[in-house]
Amino acid sequence: MARAYRPSTHGVGLDCESKGASLIFVTPDHAFRLKKKHMRNLLRLTMPLATVLVAGLVAAAEPTTLLGKWMKPNMGAPMAGEDYDTLQKSLQLVADKPPPAADYPNWVSISKAGVDAASKKDLKALKKSCKDCHDAYKEKYKKEQVTRPFP
Ligand code: HEC
Repeated sequence: MARAYRPSTHGVGLDCESKGASLIFVTPDHAFRLKKKHMRNLLRLTMPLATVLVAGLVAAAEPTTLLGKWMKPNMGAPMAGEDYDTLQKSLQLVADKPPPAADYPNWVSISKAGVDAASKKDLKALKKSCKDCHDAYKEKYKKEQVTRPFP
């Protein structure tokens, strides 16, 4: 009787540290050796999955809304160059044109805290304002405001 082929995948993890994704398989059966044919089949099964995961990670960092596309040159770039004047203006504009307040109650206050931080050249407080808004509203905004015009 042929030995049953039962690959048991105990842990499938996603390693994001190494800039990209790799799948980690852990099999408890150390005596079990994957034959070449099995290996090929396994790769055939896992490669499309890995491709989907990597594509997902890349897509996550790309803006999908008009606000996001505006953010890159008007927030991301001046942040990298510590251009406080531009950041102050950009954050003021974000504060002046919020999405519906009922759905994003802290949008204006977070943006104004950023304006204040930029005027004081307070990098730490400035970063906090970016993070506070992104943590609170990025996912929500990307879901709900795809076609909202900005600026
Ligand atoms: C009041 C809210 C708010 C503030 C403050 C804010 N952002 Fe954003 N930002 C967003 C939202 C919402 C998105 C997602 C839009 C998208 O990706 O299409 C976004 C997306 C971005 C993107 C596009 C790429 C990505 O990571 O999704 C960059 C770059 C960015 N922000 C930089 C900054 C920087 C730098 C600051 C602070 C100086 C900042 N933002 C402050 C709301 C904000």
